[in-house]
Amino acid sequence: MMQPRVISRTDDLLTRRATAVPRGVFNAAPIFAEWAEGARLRDVDGREYIDFSGGLGVLAVGHRHPAVVDAIRRQLERYLHTCFHVAMYEPYVALAERLNALAPGRFPKKTMFTNSGAEAVENAVKIARAATGRKAVLCFEHAFHGRTLFGLSLTSKVAPYKSGFGPFAPEVYRVAYPYPYRCVIGHAGSCTGHVIAAIEEAFRVLVDPADVAAVVVEPVTGEGGFIVPPSDFLPALAALCRRYGILLIADEVQTGFARTGRIFAVEHAGVEPDLLVTGKSLAGGLPLAAVTGRSEIMDAPQIGGLGGTYGGNPLACAAALAVLGVIEEQALVARARAIGEEIMAHFRAWQERFPSIGDVRGIGAMCGMELVEDRQSKAPARALTAAVLTASLERGLLILKSGVYDNVIRVLLPLIISDPDLDRGLGMLEDALISAHA
Ligand SMILES: Cc1ncc(COP(=O)(O)O)c(C=O)c1O
Repeated sequence: MMQPRVISRTDDLLTRRATAVPRGVFNAAPIFAEWAEGARLRDVDGREYIDFSGGLGVLAVGHRHPAVVDAIRRQLERYLHTCFHVAMYEPYVALAERLNALAPGRFPKKTMFTNSGAEAVENAVKIARAATGRKAVLCFEHAFHGRTLFGLSLTSKVAPYKSGFGPFAPEVYRVAYPYPYRCVIGHAGSCTGHVIAAIEEAFRVLVDPADVAAVVVEPVTGEGGFIVPPSDFLPALAALCRRYGILLIADEVQTGFARTGRIFAVEHAGVEPDLLVTGKSLAGGLPLAAVTGRSEIMDAPQIGGLGGTYGGNPLACAAALAVLGVIEEQALVARARAIGEEIMAHFRAWQERFPSIGDVRGIGAMCGMELVEDRQSKAPARALTAAVLTASLERGLLILKSGVYDNVIRVLLPLIISDPDLDRGLGMLEDALISAHA
């Protein structure tokens, strides 16, 4: 008698997903989660993974950190939602106080909360416009600021993010981001001077600086390929902003909360942004993002001009307070640096072995390697990158790519990862590189 074909739970769910969920909602891997803890994840068919993706850079403290789970549980027993606009609650205020104290700058600050990074970016721009009375916004190539209309307007990767979705918001002006590996003027030193000159030129040919409300910048690009700008870039940009009365908005949605070996990446450059946008790792897996900034700027919008039904949900605020406690108690800033050194040592060794690894770069645990067809032309090796990711998954490693050319393998692992899991994950990545090159 013929045996009925056994359909795995994954196959069944993939079929249901294809029928029920639009293809535009992308998936980095064809797997469904069953359980996750720390830096490990198990799928519905019992396959185990080391997680170097951290739920897309959200899980600095790992999956289901006990302190976070406990904080959520305790909050759950009191109230779930009141809406901050209807009945206020302490966790919102307490978290605002914590972020005001944590954000760089010894000036009075205030914080508001949103549900997503994109929404926080939108609000930062609203606040900057209200505070300056100016309309234009300057942003960068290789930027990613989210999928809402203004976030998308600031974003600088056409396919798949922007294709077919215009028209975009007006008064957005874009200049080159300093990209040392692909510096357009091809010199060996810092590309900061070139980029600052390009902005000055933009003020002559594109937009009057007196009309520019804000510059929105990622201190290290996230979705844009983990590009680490030269160390003099952010200070030079901050000085330029000061010269023209333009507000500096740092988007630290991906770089924030210890990942780069500082609580915020701007600290490496000693820069104090007027507005700081955070999200992702802030609430350890619950949807929460924030805009923190100078009090007088944050208070510019009229009463009722800011907010939303769910922004700063009590569960998310309670989780975030626990996350900030864990980052401090488990010394995750120092841990990010140690992890980064370990990863970069591997990346550098692999770069010597594999000619396709054109560039390795990183800051703290935010490390990436850029794959190219050959080191002369630097043509992006998109297919090879995809092959490495597939081979990694087959070996039990969840890891992501990024970059405008889809050729940067990036590490966004939980900073609480154990040394053995870090080593195992790096071993799997090495095997995947070998097999993808074979
Ligand atoms: C730098 C940056 N800004 C904004 C966003 C958008 O955040 P969200 O997906 O929570 O809307 C992201 C998401 O990847 C990001 O990396």
